[in-house]
Amino acid sequence: MCSDLSCFHERLLCIFDTMKILIKNIKTLVGIHDVSVQKVSGEEMAKLPCINDAWLAIDEGKIADYGSMENFPGIEDWRFLEVIDAAGKFVLPSWCDSHTHMVFAGTRESEFVDKINGLSYEEIAKRGGGIVNSAELLRNTSENDLYESALMRLNEVIKNGTGAVEIKSGYGLNLESELKMLRVIKRLKEVSPIPIKSTFLGAHSFPAEFKSNRDAYVDLVVKEMIPAVAAEELADYVDVFCDRGFFDVEQTERILSAAGSYGIKPKIHANELDYSGGIQVGVKHRAVSVDHLEFTADNEIEELLNSNTMPTLLPSTAFFLGFDYPPARKIISSGLPLALASDYNPGSSPSGKMSFVISLACIKLRMLPEEAINAATLNGAYAMELQHEVGSIAHGKRGNVIITKEIPSLAYIPYSFTADLIDKVIVNGNVF
Ligand code: NIG
Ligand code: FE
Repeated sequence: MCSDLSCFHERLLCIFDTMKILIKNIKTLVGIHDVSVQKVSGEEMAKLPCINDAWLAIDEGKIADYGSMENFPGIEDWRFLEVIDAAGKFVLPSWCDSHTHMVFAGTRESEFVDKINGLSYEEIAKRGGGIVNSAELLRNTSENDLYESALMRLNEVIKNGTGAVEIKSGYGLNLESELKMLRVIKRLKEVSPIPIKSTFLGAHSFPAEFKSNRDAYVDLVVKEMIPAVAAEELADYVDVFCDRGFFDVEQTERILSAAGSYGIKPKIHANELDYSGGIQVGVKHRAVSVDHLEFTADNEIEELLNSNTMPTLLPSTAFFLGFDYPPARKIISSGLPLALASDYNPGSSPSGKMSFVISLACIKLRMLPEEAINAATLNGAYAMELQHEVGSIAHGKRGNVIITKEIPSLAYIPYSFTADLIDKVIVNGNVF
C-alpha cells in the first residue's frame, strides 16, 4: 500500500464511502452500553457489558445490530457485504482520546535529555523552554507544513485504534499563530474519517514577549483572540493551563467568562503541578472536563460530585515527566466517573497511543481493565460531548471499532503493555 501523504489523503476521503460489514464469531464483543448511557461512574465503571461468541453488523457507517452467534438471524442480502471472521478475537469500541495537542512543529527531545540530567519540567519552562520553545518553532512553520505533519499523526493514532479525538491549539501564543493552528485543526476535521473536536488554548503559557506583563497577555486572549476565534467558528471549546507558574484562577476566570459569552464551553488543564484552583473554576464555569488532576484534594472531589464535569487523567504525562500519579482509586470510590486520554504533545507526552495509556492506568493508577476501557471509550466520548456518536457498542453509533488479534482474555490487553494487539481498525464501517 502506498504510504506517502497524498495517498493517505485519498484514503481518508474514500473511506467516507461506506459498505456493509459483518463481523462474526467474535470471541467477545466488549463495551455494550445503550446510547442512553452517557457515562459510567463509581462502581459502574467496573462493569463493561460484553457478549461472548458474538456478531456485529455495521451498515452505512453505523452499528446496525449485534448479538450472540446462537441467535444470529442469517444473511438475506449478500451484495456489498464484507464478512470478517473474528474467531478468537475481541471487538471493542475505538478509543476516544479527549485531550491531545497533536498539531505541533518539531519535537523536544533535547529537553528530554535535560530532564534526564536533572532539570524539572517547570525549570525548563522558566528558562524559555517547554511550551514557549514549541511556540517559537510553530510561528516559523507554515500552515501547510503543520497540516501535513498533523495529518500523519492523525493517521498514526487512527491506526492505533483511536476513533474520536480532541485537538488543542496553544503553541501559537499570538493571534496569528493561534488562528493558524485552529485552521489546521479545521482542515483536519474536513478530511478526517473520525470526529475531531477543536479547543482554543491560547492560555497555554505566557509568550516571551509578555514575560513581564502577564495580564496584558490575558487581555490579548480575552479582547482579541477569543473574538477572532469565535468569529471564524474555529473552536468547540476553550482551555486554560491553570496551574502554578502558569495562569492563576483570576486569569482563568476572565478567559472562561470571555469564551462563555460566545457560548464556548471550557475544558481545563488543572492541578498537574499543584492544587491550582483549576478544578473549582472549571466546575463553576460548567467545564466539560477538567484534566490532569495529579493533585486532587477531598474538597475538589466534592465539587466534582456536584457537577457534570468529567475528571480526565493523562497517565502517560505523569509517566513521561516522572510525576506522582493522580489518585484514580480515590476518585472512583467517591462515585465519580473518570476518562483517560493521551495528552499527545511534544513536551510531556510524545505519544498518542491509547493502548499504552490503558496499560498505565491499570499498572500505575490501579484501575481495573474494565474501568480503564470504560474510561478510554464511553467516558472519553463524554469528555468531548460525543457520547451519542461513539464510545460504546450501541445501535446507531458510528461503526468505529477495534478488532484485536487472537488473545486469551480482556485483561491481556493492558497486561501485554508493549504488544501490538490490533488486527484491524474499522472506521465508519470500513477497514482503515
Ligand atoms: O498537557 N500542561 C500543559 N500542557 C501540556 C504540555 C505541553 C508541552 O509541554 O508542550 C500538557 O502536559
Ligand atoms: Fe495537555
